[in-house]
Parts: sequence; structure tokens; C-alpha cells
Amino acid sequence: MQTGLLHLHNFLRWIILVLLVISILKAYSGWKSKKTFVPADKKIWLFTMISGHLTLLLGLYQVGFGRFGIFVTNLPEGTRVMKDKFFRFFWVEHPLGMIVAILLITFGHRMAKKAVADEVKYKKAFWYFLIALILILASIPWPFREIVGRPWFPGMA
Ligand code: HEM
Ligand code: HEM
Repeated sequence: MQTGLLHLHNFLRWIILVLLVISILKAYSGWKSKKTFVPADKKIWLFTMISGHLTLLLGLYQVGFGRFGIFVTNLPEGTRVMKDKFFRFFWVEHPLGMIVAILLITFGHRMAKKAVADEVKYKKAFWYFLIALILILASIPWPFREIVGRPWFPGMA
């Protein structure tokens, strides 16, 4: 169960990345080509947001009660969270970066409901999603990252 939840959290990264890239491309072309906003745009933004919220929920569980959860870990004597690269990443940098990114995705999705010109919806959503993507790419524990690196796919070595 514990491992399954972590694997789901790992896997959802790819869903988010794919949906986010599609959302960004669609928002950009809508903005630049002055398209009319259609329900399909709203739907893809909604799916992007839902996968973000789901990953957030699973992440909150991990950071609280996962293998290195804040409430279940006794730090070795003398460890300082902000001085320890591993704990600083998984307790601070990764959660903070991702929470801000998911907030931005939520703001982007909200543009679908705003009573503003279609061009404005597309433009603002584009920027929210783009900044979210950059934050997510910067906060993922990619396998090539030292100390905090994790597998490309759930359960890979
Ligand atoms: C820690 C967990 C979560 C938090 C803090 C959270 C927060 C929020 C907030 C603030 C909104 C309102 C967004 C807006 O008004 O633009 C929202 C909407 C929504 N969330 Fe979450 N959420 C969480 C988990 C989830 C999960 C697990 C799912 C589903 C898998 C989910 C699906 C949705 C959906 C479908 C909406 C409504 C979208 C709409 O039609 O406007 N959320 N959530
Ligand atoms: C877009 C959002 C997010 C993405 C793409 C993401 C991605 C990942 C990935 C790929 C891993 C490695 C999993 C593995 O070892 O197989 C991971 C681990 C982790 N994530 Fe996230 N994450 C996100 C949001 C969050 C949030 C919001 C939190 C906390 C509030 C969080 C907390 C954690 C923790 C604590 C771990 C380490 C768990 C362990 O190794 O036992 N994540 N995340």
C-alpha cells in the first residue's frame, strides 16, 4: 500500500507533464491565433488540474507519513533539515516548489471560468501553465540528480 502510493505519485508525474505540455501548446495557439475558447480547452485544463490535485494529495501523505515522513522520522542526532541536502529537498524544496506549481495550474484552470475575452483567458493560462511547468521540472527528483535522484518510472532501480 505504502509502495503503491509512492509508485502512483511517481507515475502521475508523466500524466501531469503530458497534460501540461498539451495545455500550454493549446493556450499558446489559442492566444496567438485569436481562437474562440471551446469546451475542449476547458476539459484539458481541468484534467491537468485534477492530476495536479491528486499528486498533491499523495505528496502530502508522503511528506507526512511516507518512508521519510516528517511525523514518522527520527532525524539522526545533529541533523539540521536545512543543512541536509536530502531532507531539505524532500521536506522543503520539492513540496514547496510543487505546491506553488499546482496553485499556478489551479489559477490557469480558473481562467476558463473567468468572464474575460478569450484572448485574455488563453494568454494568462499560458503563462500560469508555463511557469508551473518550469517549477515542476526544477523540483522533480530526476534520476540524474545527486543524492535525491529517483527512478524515471515507478519501481525502477
Ligand atoms: C490536498 C488536496 C487538495 C486540495 C488542497 C485541493 C484544492 C482545490 C481547490 C482550492 C479547488 C478550487 C479551484 C478553483 O476554484 O479554481 C479545487 C477544485 C477541484 N479539485 Fe481539488 N484539491 C485537492 C485534492 C483533489 C483531488 C484528490 C481531486 C481529484 C482526484 C481534486 C479534484 C478537483 C476538482 C474536480 C475540482 C473542481 C474543478 C472545477 O470544475 O472547477 N482535488 N481543489
Ligand atoms: C506536480 C507535483 C509533483 C510531482 C510531479 C512529484 C514527483 C515526485 C517523484 C517523481 C517522486 C519520486 C518517487 C519515487 O521515489 O518513486 C516524488 C517523491 C516524493 N514527493 Fe513528490 N511530486 C509532486 C508533488 C509533491 C508534493 C506537493 C509533495 C508534498 C507536499 C510531495 C512529496 C514527496 C515526497 C515526500 C517524496 C519522497 C517519498 C519517498 O521517497 O518515500 N510531492 N515526487
